[in-house]
Amino acid sequence: MSPKQAQPARLRLWLSPIAYLSNNPVSMAGVVLVTAAAIFWLFLLPVLIRGEAPNPYTGILLYLVLPAVFFAGLLLIPLGLRLTRKRHAAEGGLPPADLQDPRFRRLLGFLAVMTFVNLVIASQLSFSAVHYMDSVSFCGQTCHTVMQPEFAAYQNSPHSRVSCTACHIGPGASWFVKSKLSGAWQVFATAFDTFPRPIPTPIENLRPARDTCETCHWPQKFGADRLRIIHHFAEDQTNTHTRSVLLMRIGGGLHGGPGIHGAHLGEDVVIRYRSDAKRETIPWVEYRRGDTVRVYQTAGAGQVPLWEVREMDCMDCHNRPTHAFQMPDPAVNEAMAAGRIAPDLPFAKRQALAALKGVYRDHGEAAARIRQEFDGFYSREFPDVFKARQADIERSSEALVAIYTRNVFPSMKVAWGTYPNHIGHNDFPGCFRCHDGEHTAEGGRTIGQDCNSCHQVLAMEEAAPKILTELGLEEAAK
Ligand code: HEC
Ligand code: HEC
Ligand code: HEC
Ligand code: HEC
Ligand code: HEC
Repeated sequence: MSPKQAQPARLRLWLSPIAYLSNNPVSMAGVVLVTAAAIFWLFLLPVLIRGEAPNPYTGILLYLVLPAVFFAGLLLIPLGLRLTRKRHAAEGGLPPADLQDPRFRRLLGFLAVMTFVNLVIASQLSFSAVHYMDSVSFCGQTCHTVMQPEFAAYQNSPHSRVSCTACHIGPGASWFVKSKLSGAWQVFATAFDTFPRPIPTPIENLRPARDTCETCHWPQKFGADRLRIIHHFAEDQTNTHTRSVLLMRIGGGLHGGPGIHGAHLGEDVVIRYRSDAKRETIPWVEYRRGDTVRVYQTAGAGQVPLWEVREMDCMDCHNRPTHAFQMPDPAVNEAMAAGRIAPDLPFAKRQALAALKGVYRDHGEAAARIRQEFDGFYSREFPDVFKARQADIERSSEALVAIYTRNVFPSMKVAWGTYPNHIGHNDFPGCFRCHDGEHTAEGGRTIGQDCNSCHQVLAMEEAAPKILTELGLEEAAK
């Protein structure tokens, strides 16, 4: 025999394990799937290792479908062999389990090598799949309409660089498993369109804030007072500009003073309360500090059902640390202070609010009609201004559309104020759910409502707050 003729014979010999393992259609399909997935994996390895996905759909293909194909293939091979076990035996297909038999040794060697290769591929695939499911792109964009409101608000928040899972899952194996289980259920709900609109809040069984927030925010650390300058624009022709200046008594921590954090979360302080499911109505509050116990109740507290008791944590005030939906008035004030809406257009504030409060079917309609309404007002009522300030009017209506599409999501039934923010007391009851002067303990003591215990009101809607000049801030603060 010449070496040339020997070549195909030897190749066939080496390939023979594959022939044994795929001598039936089921196993054959398995071999094809595994091989195809492995080849794809090899080519995509650089992308997989970097954990990238150019868009959510390729993300699903890469991190979820590819591993599924691979594992399905691996399962099909033994399944096929098992199904055709009898025929095998009859045909003497598989070599006898005899280590002396070179065919059997070759089969064993082949299986050992393939098992090793498959383990490498499988662990890499599972690792990147899990990693991907924890990514912001998966949570925020894959189920795009569902999470769109939360994702949009998140991108504009101080936490836009913090991953969804840092707050929603946090470290530790048991929450990881819980979240993957509920996540799997949510994928179903999305696929069959059975999820509630809007997504209800508060989230039941959200992981306690102390496990998540405190991995980054150390409660003993913060506590310095913080100056806040809040802009207001009136709904008159000149959009009269005023400012309030508050010194927030954040307190607590190492810097002494009970302040806001210290009063509720200071060492040995525990506050518990009963509320309705939305945590809006709070008729019963228990305050414990060391041996001191005070129970505050509202007049009607006896008549309400015995709602669940909850221990107060970060989330009871910071329920919108990242999905902070704005109300139209503060949103427009902020945009005017920043100059995104020109503050010197006549009646800009009034018209901006009117345009934002319209009811629109979707973001497309909103964009068109908000522009129409805002621009239309100037072309109708102030034609001179309209001609002279075209660019400013354009820019302002652009900013209005941005405010609307960031805060209102008709497809998810998220309107202005759907998600209340518990910090403060102006747009929502917030702190005043408890600090309303109605919560009374034995002996007549109430939960305090002294303005200055939460913040020193240094100026209240003043045109030129003296305090800002004194602090040398007048130049900086417009
Ligand atoms: C800084 C922490 C934090 C981050 C980061 C975060 N969330 Fe949240 N999320 C919360 C809190 C707190 C709530 C409200 C809990 C409550 O009121 O019970 C919430 C609520 C939600 C809700 C329920 C609806 C609602 O608005 O109350 C959804 C859906 C949600 N988050 C999705 C996401 C997605 C998607 C991401 C990533 C793009 C993300 N979250 C990132 C803290 C966070
Ligand atoms: C993975 C780290 C991380 C986690 C977890 C986290 N945060 Fe933050 N948080 C940050 C960073 C970073 C900032 C921005 C700091 C800055 O702007 O100086 C921030 C800012 C804040 C601010 C200040 C916002 C402002 O107006 O200046 C608040 C309030 C806050 N976080 C509350 C929370 C709450 C409540 C939770 C838990 C639900 C939480 N954070 C979870 C990292 C985190
Ligand atoms: C009783 C309500 C309440 C609770 C409970 C609470 N906070 Fe705050 N927190 C506030 C208020 C009010 C502010 C000031 C907001 C402002 O400046 O407008 C604040 C400010 C902050 C800031 C910004 C501080 C700064 O100097 O910029 C961070 C960070 C923060 N809180 C994190 C937390 C964390 C983490 C927890 C839980 C351990 C927590 N808070 C619990 C009410 C609360
Ligand atoms: C669940 C009820 C509840 C909510 C909501 C709440 N507090 Fe309190 N707060 C209390 C209780 C109870 C005390 C302690 C009363 C006492 O000393 O007996 C307290 C005390 C305080 C104190 C100490 C001074 C004082 O008046 O006794 C400050 C400051 C304070 N809270 C600020 C806030 C701020 C700011 C918010 C909103 C961001 C807020 N609280 C929301 C229940 C609440
Ligand atoms: C229980 C604590 C608490 C009490 C009592 C309280 N406030 Fe506030 N107030 C807050 C917090 C917290 C904010 C900040 C909200 C934010 O971060 O935007 C705020 C915000 C404000 C603002 C700015 C809001 C804006 O849009 O202009 C004003 C003005 C104000 N408070 C006035 C008062 C006055 C006047 C009183 C007394 C009748 C009072 N507050 C009592 C906690 C309190």
